[in-house]
Amino acid sequence: MRSKVSWMLIAASLAVVGACSQKKEQPAAAPLTLHELMKDQVDANADALWEVSNAAIGETAGLDTSKMTDATWAQIEQRATAVQRAALEIARLDPIIVAKPGVTIADEGVEGGDTAAGVQAAIDKDPQKLRDFAQALAVHVGDIAAAAKVHDAARAGPLIDQLDSVCEDCHLEFWYPGQKALLEQYGITR
Ligand code: HEC
Repeated sequence: MRSKVSWMLIAASLAVVGACSQKKEQPAAAPLTLHELMKDQVDANADALWEVSNAAIGETAGLDTSKMTDATWAQIEQRATAVQRAALEIARLDPIIVAKPGVTIADEGVEGGDTAAGVQAAIDKDPQKLRDFAQALAVHVGDIAAAAKVHDAARAGPLIDQLDSVCEDCHLEFWYPGQKALLEQYGITR
């Protein structure tokens, strides 16, 4: 007859085996790349936010409260918060990996468009600058979420209007710096 001790050992070793096989099925999630966070979270949620706000742009380019409902305010708050979460995640990336090997980013083939490797090189020169831009985006969309929460159209309208330029500030620096040079050449300062 088996002793109680050996049963316990068998149970313990089964638990170890179980833990191991479970670990194999669920490998620790690799940190997301900047490209993944940008495309799937920042851009997807910002686009959804703009879709809602565009439908409520009034005559004076601000948000027309008569076109806003509790549901659309809630959507703006939720999308802005999602962008904020992603922006904070980008601000915390260390190291910052632009894309997995073999992944192409948007506009690679377009004149002035950079490759993932080119973007990576630009970021590696000054990663903190990218984090600062990400932090600025997080603050901006945080303000949008706060305004949306209290249905403050006078505050939310201009902030949503300016959102695109907060995106562009970072893009001109790290995604297509060639266009920044072009803008400067024509004396267009942002
Ligand atoms: C902190 C810097 C930063 C901010 C802020 C930022 N981006 Fe980006 N974004 C990048 C970089 C770098 C790339 C190039 C790498 C890439 O394409 O994934 C990029 C690429 C993109 C792309 C192309 C993705 C693809 O398929 O390759 C889209 C779309 C985009 N950004 C949308 C946005 C929008 C919308 C916002 C603002 C709500 C925003 N970004 C804010 C850094 C930023």
